[in-house]
Amino acid sequence: MIRVAVLGGGIGAQHIEAYRALPEFKVTMVVDQDQSRLAHLAADEIVLANDVQMALDAEVDVIDICLPPHLHSKITIEALQSGKHVICEKPLATSLAQIRAIGQAKKATGRSVFPVFQYRFGPNLQFLQALKGAGLTGVPRAAAVETHWNRGADYYAVPWRGTWAGEQGGAIVGHAIHAHDLLMNFMAPVVGVAARLGTLVNSIETEDSAAVIFELSGGGLATSSITLGAARDETRLRFVYEHVTVTSDTTPYAPGEGNWQFVARDPKKQSLIDSVIADNVPSLAGFSGFLREVSKSITGQPNQAVAFDDGADSIALITAIYEAHRSGAWVSLPISIDHSLWEGWEP
Ligand SMILES: NC(=O)c1ccc[n+]([C@@H]2O[C@H](COP(=O)([O-])OP(=O)(O)OC[C@H]3O[C@@H](n4cnc5c(N)ncnc54)[C@H](O)[C@@H]3O)[C@@H](O)[C@H]2O)c1
Repeated sequence: MIRVAVLGGGIGAQHIEAYRALPEFKVTMVVDQDQSRLAHLAADEIVLANDVQMALDAEVDVIDICLPPHLHSKITIEALQSGKHVICEKPLATSLAQIRAIGQAKKATGRSVFPVFQYRFGPNLQFLQALKGAGLTGVPRAAAVETHWNRGADYYAVPWRGTWAGEQGGAIVGHAIHAHDLLMNFMAPVVGVAARLGTLVNSIETEDSAAVIFELSGGGLATSSITLGAARDETRLRFVYEHVTVTSDTTPYAPGEGNWQFVARDPKKQSLIDSVIADNVPSLAGFSGFLREVSKSITGQPNQAVAFDDGADSIALITAIYEAHRSGAWVSLPISIDHSLWEGWEP
């Protein structure tokens, strides 16, 4: 039984729901400074607390951080130093300097860090993984990802959102980070970017719109279109590989769901692709799928858990995108320690 303390009762409530369906986990503590949030999460055998220190001192195996972004890296390091594994909501950190410090704490303590990228876990993305595993996709050639969501004044009524101090970034940090993780994980690592960002929809400090161009390792080229001013929430992925073109549905927060198309470039190969998909039995999706892989990792089983390095890659990409927008230049990755945004991208 893996004992968990969940910090933060916003999206944390959905994490708790997912833990409840997984017998290998037991949530033993929930922490929130907001008493009304805690009251909603009250349940037998769960200790409710207002102070994060209570979780750091508690006998739990995992601290699951669902707090605002400016608290993530500090509490991740404190949790590692108190001997816990860490699950941390996105963004794992808000600078590469913080990522380096988390990496050092992880190494020193021998504990694990699992950045939350639950969009990876859904049936169609599992089919795509199976096609890749069977060697049927070939190399990535092109991709277009869209994060076209609708966020207005009610969303930004929460004080930390839309601010540099609290959210520490806008749509590329808080929203498109998922689509960009899927791009890097299912296509290829990003080796360079150009970008334009804008604040076009809401009256906030940070960006709510962006257009980004990526060069992928191996030469593939990709684009990302981002707005928080769409009529409704839609996420769309189009991945063109050498042998297969993959088009997602538009399910916003679980893009692996819905009706996807997997089309072979050579029509004679279509039946092979269809049969690999038909033979694949989907496992758990969303937070449940994410957490199941975490449990396998913690208990030493083969797993597809999201790794610390994946969270680190997402922070490097955000750093590069801010640099590309501000400089107007093409920015290559990896970002070195002497880079001007190493300590953070806050203007
Ligand atoms: N993976 C996803 O799809 C997803 C979706 C939504 C949010 N998130 C991320 O989850 C994190 C939280 O977002 P949210 O929407 O749940 O925010 P939220 O503001 O709704 O919830 C955060 C909670 O943390 C509590 N809190 C803040 N500071 C605290 C402190 N010092 N001690 C104790 N409690 C404290 C607040 O009272 C609040 O209830 C953010 O990093 C966000 O980016 C991820």
